[in-house]
Amino acid sequence: MCGIVGYVGEHAAGTKPLEVALEGLRRLEYRGYDSAGVALVGAGLGQVATRKKAGKLVNLVAELEENPLPPATAAIGHTRWATHGAPNDVNAHPHVAGKVAVIHNGIVENFAQLKAELADDGARFRSETDTEVVAHLLERAYARTGDLTAALREVAQRLEGTFTILAVHADEPQKVVGARHDSPLVVGLGEGENFLGSDVAAFIAHTREALELGQDQVVTITPDSVTVTDFDGSVVEPRRFTVDWDAAAAEKGGFASFMDKEIHDQPHAVADTLLGRTDLSGALVLDEIRIPEAVLRSVDKIVVVACGTAAYAGHVAKYAIEHWCRIPVEVELAHEFRYRDPVVNEKTLVVAVSQSGETMDTLMAVRHAREQGSKVLAICNTHGSTIPRESDAVLYTHAGPEVAVASTKAFLGQITAAYLLGLYLAQLRGNKFPDEVAELLGQLREVPAKIQQVLDGAEHVREVARSMREVSSVLFLGRHVGFPVALEGALKLKELAYIHAEGFAAGELKHGPIALIEEGQPVFVIVPSPRGRDSLHSKVVSNIQEIRARGARTLVIAEEGDSDVLPYADEVFFVPQVPTLLAPLLTTVPLQIFACELATAKGLDVDQPRNLAKSVTVE
Ligand code: M6R
Repeated sequence: MCGIVGYVGEHAAGTKPLEVALEGLRRLEYRGYDSAGVALVGAGLGQVATRKKAGKLVNLVAELEENPLPPATAAIGHTRWATHGAPNDVNAHPHVAGKVAVIHNGIVENFAQLKAELADDGARFRSETDTEVVAHLLERAYARTGDLTAALREVAQRLEGTFTILAVHADEPQKVVGARHDSPLVVGLGEGENFLGSDVAAFIAHTREALELGQDQVVTITPDSVTVTDFDGSVVEPRRFTVDWDAAAAEKGGFASFMDKEIHDQPHAVADTLLGRTDLSGALVLDEIRIPEAVLRSVDKIVVVACGTAAYAGHVAKYAIEHWCRIPVEVELAHEFRYRDPVVNEKTLVVAVSQSGETMDTLMAVRHAREQGSKVLAICNTHGSTIPRESDAVLYTHAGPEVAVASTKAFLGQITAAYLLGLYLAQLRGNKFPDEVAELLGQLREVPAKIQQVLDGAEHVREVARSMREVSSVLFLGRHVGFPVALEGALKLKELAYIHAEGFAAGELKHGPIALIEEGQPVFVIVPSPRGRDSLHSKVVSNIQEIRARGARTLVIAEEGDSDVLPYADEVFFVPQVPTLLAPLLTTVPLQIFACELATAKGLDVDQPRNLAKSVTVE
């Protein structure tokens, strides 16, 4: 939540700092869009120069056209997802105290106490935010130390809660400082210029060379130096990495929305996640899994922790891993996990699934699991993020940057990575013979082309979606791996189209939800392959008959050639044949397209749905 960007360059004062800040904010806007603001410093300015505006970035850009800012040498910029204080101009960041300007991502939990203390000392507050106390603390610390880095180290030690803070001072126009505690911050390395960002998207247009900051570290960037210390001032050596995608990957590429583009990226997301993960003999080699093989062999339980869409990928993982490896798998919403005193120990493998690698609930679950002695493996899409850094091992998905707030290609990437993990464990623990693993991998490699077929034949889904603009409720039913797909289909529709939607296990229908069925109620049903497990298919076909008999309008997703569903389907969307466990990689796609098209038909912003932020970095 909240996007942060910082820039300093060696050029004489110019327009580049503002341009870099605005470009960074444009790429980070998916992290929050309640307001946006920038602060600039430059030789001879004397004061920090700021502009900020409630609402999306376009409002700030319009404000800057009306009230331009002067040339500068350094800039910080912020796009906000509101926590403390309404999303208005005053509460927008940056917050200024004297010659200091501050932006912040996170929550300062002891802000009320600090505010009272500062007010007694004569500070006057303009906003309702927790961030403004940081500006005042920093102003006072600077007055004592005369050094912005030292001042920030001092202030960081007084803050409780979560924070990434960036600050500039009018008297140090060639410096931007940052501190992080439980919120993300990465450094971009340029030539004669350096960058800071909540994630690499902030500076990807300028550099792909980056540094990962650790927990409780302070960074100072000048045009030609980057210095990182801990909060006590000891110098630390951050890990350097190269971003494996470029700015073009984070553009719409001719599509009407990022979401539409990302749905169409999915054949690549799956193919790239599979790429390079076998040796010459065809055996799976997951180099990144640096957990000793003996430990993986002794695992007697797997617990997947994740939130939202990532948790649904975890549900799919459960079906696959239990079937292939015969290890019990639990899936737990990360925010519930640590508060219920879960039974996990050194024989438990905890798998944390997160696109962003920054979801606070998931991060806290990771920490709790490690405290209990469990090994944690992250499935993550974002290099340089916190969850992989704090885990014992990581299996990266290679879905590329996901900009739309609603997750699509990352979901398919997570499911693919979960299959790889399952097959790897099955290979390692001897549950499957090498030729069985190779056969399944071969089937997985055929999936991207099949996703492309679903995309190419999606016009019917779009037509149906457009015709359903006025519906107020849609239900989704699935069994086995179709159940998490139903949950994901419902979540996509809620997030994007603001329509009441619920996903159910089809077998649960008769235990209550069937009471919701009335004349015309649209119900998506995800039908398993007729070639799959005994009776699974016929049970779901019976479920379709049950709801149709009660007036439901049935929208059926079924495997090509499945004529059994035809008599009971008002609409049918066929997907190519795949083994039962791999079906979510295909059956999810029509549901994503449906939600995207319906929301678009309602005139909604599918990339930035109301009230949401992509990276949920508060608990
Ligand atoms: O970055 P993460 O994968 O950890 O995010 C988890 C959820 O917040 C995320 O999947 C959310 O549910 C999306 N809005 C779904 O579209």
